Amino acid sequence: MDTRLNVILVIATTLLVLAGCSFQSYEAAESKGSFDDNFSIMWSQDHFTTSKDGQIWYLSLDNDTGCGFQTKQRYRFGWFSMKLKLVGGDSAGVVTAYYMCSENGAGPERDELDFEFLGNRTGEPYLIQTNIYKNGTGNREMRHQLWFDPTQDYHTYSILWNTHQIVFFVDRVPIRVFKNNGKANKFFPNEKPMYLFSSIWNADEWATRGGLEKTNWKLSPFVSSYKDFSVDACQWKDPYPDCVSTTTNNWWDQYSAWHLSADQKNDYAWVQRNLVIYDYCNDSQRFPTLPEECSLSPWD
Ligand SMILES: *[C@@H]1O[C@H](CO)[C@@H](O)[C@H](O)[C@H]1NC(C)=O
Ligand SMILES: *[C@@H]1O[C@H](CO)[C@@H](O)[C@H](O)[C@H]1NC(C)=O
Ligand SMILES: *[C@@H]1O[C@H](CO)[C@@H](O)[C@H](O)[C@H]1NC(C)=O
Ligand SMILES: *[C@@H]1O[C@H](CO)[C@@H](O)[C@H](O)[C@H]1NC(C)=O
Ligand SMILES: *[C@@H]1O[C@H](CO)[C@@H](O)[C@H](O)[C@H]1NC(C)=O
Repeated sequence: MDTRLNVILVIATTLLVLAGCSFQSYEAAESKGSFDDNFSIMWSQDHFTTSKDGQIWYLSLDNDTGCGFQTKQRYRFGWFSMKLKLVGGDSAGVVTAYYMCSENGAGPERDELDFEFLGNRTGEPYLIQTNIYKNGTGNREMRHQLWFDPTQDYHTYSILWNTHQIVFFVDRVPIRVFKNNGKANKFFPNEKPMYLFSSIWNADEWATRGGLEKTNWKLSPFVSSYKDFSVDACQWKDPYPDCVSTTTNNWWDQYSAWHLSADQKNDYAWVQRNLVIYDYCNDSQRFPTLPEECSLSPWD
């Protein structure tokens, strides 16, 4: 915990110095611009609203349509973070996706890093599914339980992405580590810059234990809430930005970000012991020969 806090403080201090502020909290150092500075609506503008001050965003789903937004910029490597509060009550069938993707469609060559929150019947636990696509191929699902009710309050969901590892964090606890092997391969997305997206949609044909439970439309609209978008990353510029990873000028590309810290390993071990519901690397029925990346150790 201490090391993590120190890292946050160092980053926050750096931001404050850059911003020329003398006394301000880390929260205040995050992007407080308007939605339109960094995001656009992908579909159904009329299912998107904000709080009065514009700092909290709401996406809603009804029997007509869901809604989604995306960043205007693409990024390649960095730290991507946002606070989400998910649909409460009976939300079976409702999926809130929070993800990065190299395209704004489901193209056959896309790279993608997914967080998906699978709603449930009242009182039953939400599951969080993560997946990784390279060049259009995913099938790398993991499912986790959370240690809190994600519909009661905002929690922080983050992705660390560099050329050595991709780590999914929940409130700064690493829940999934996906390693590269340092060679040209077909599993680790590290070439294509990605946008950040979020959307809410109906997935009652697959999300709820294979479609057993149907969305209860009487309860719609279903609303997910967002705030504190925070990105510390290399913003893409064609043909190539200054901040490419080979410079290791940025903390997310440096040696300490190539593997988990000792504290993060403790947290990760706890998650592995207690919260993993499904791991594709443990599914030998589905993969008689386990995928190549499954042999890479998250502890290295
Ligand atoms: C958000 O938008 C502002 C204004 O266009 C821009 O200066 C900033 O770099 C953007 N932030 C990110 C993280 O893309
Ligand atoms: C959608 O919901 C509205 C309001 O509850 C209802 O009037 C309408 O018939 C529904 N439409 C469909 C296609 O189910
Ligand atoms: C990426 O996928 C496309 C479409 O499936 C395929 O034609 C291409 O060879 C793939 N590229 C690489 C580098 O694997
Ligand atoms: C919903 O709750 C049930 C019962 O606790 C659980 O088996 C299931 O994995 C949960 N998630 C989904 C998406 O159905
Ligand atoms: C991994 O597979 C074994 C054998 O099928 C099973 O007992 C175990 O619960 C699985 N663990 C996870 C995390 O899926």
